[in-house]
Amino acid sequence: MHVKLIPVAAAADRDVFEGTTAVVFDVLRATSTIVTALAAGYRRIYPVAEESAALALAHKHGYALAGERGGRKIPGFPHGNSPLEFWPGDGKESEALVLTTSNGTGAIQMASGAARVLTGSLLNARAAALAALKEGRDILLVCAGTGGAFSLEDALGAGFVLAELIRATGETPPMDDLAMAAYRLSIFYGNDPLGGLLDSRHGQRLLALECEDDLRWCAQLNKFNIAPVFMHDHIYVP
Ligand code: MLT
Repeated sequence: MHVKLIPVAAAADRDVFEGTTAVVFDVLRATSTIVTALAAGYRRIYPVAEESAALALAHKHGYALAGERGGRKIPGFPHGNSPLEFWPGDGKESEALVLTTSNGTGAIQMASGAARVLTGSLLNARAAALAALKEGRDILLVCAGTGGAFSLEDALGAGFVLAELIRATGETPPMDDLAMAAYRLSIFYGNDPLGGLLDSRHGQRLLALECEDDLRWCAQLNKFNIAPVFMHDHIYVP
């Protein structure tokens, strides 16, 4: 098993996904929100890159709808992309949620050529690592990035998953230098994951948008024991 890290999903060559297990990270905030909403009771989440397609899908089936652009809720959408909008849930989340975000939902779709696509975050780092291990393939840690640029928080999420994987196996797998850098990053911020999120550019932007509670939420390591899978057009907990 070999581990590689893709720093910006949108810049990746689609061929690299073939035959791998991909773990996709948009730690601030799409994959953290997805993990939270599924843990709160939603059965399926449809990640949609385009705003108009998200609207059409939600209206057609009567699904819940959430989305952001530039960190702000899309005007007219009932929900934004804050994980706290979905936690603890009100018991009515039995069906589906359509989510469109600036980078994360596109990154998940980008990874769809992988043999298995998992959703990673700090919230479910251990569960994502164990699920990836169980697949027994080479692993691609896919960072969404922000606006086509590398994002510290996604690399940190990837590093924490890699750290859990190493803890579980007791071995350091062969990996590329980007994956090693992410692993070392997780050690640097091991006692202070929130500090890592606050050091990131997007973390600072969310702080300016008064989303500090979201940062605190997304910084919780291993809060949930679920490893959501993206298959066909939606994400679910197997
Ligand atoms: C994204 O997809 O770029 C993010 O999740 C943005 C955010 O809501 O913070």
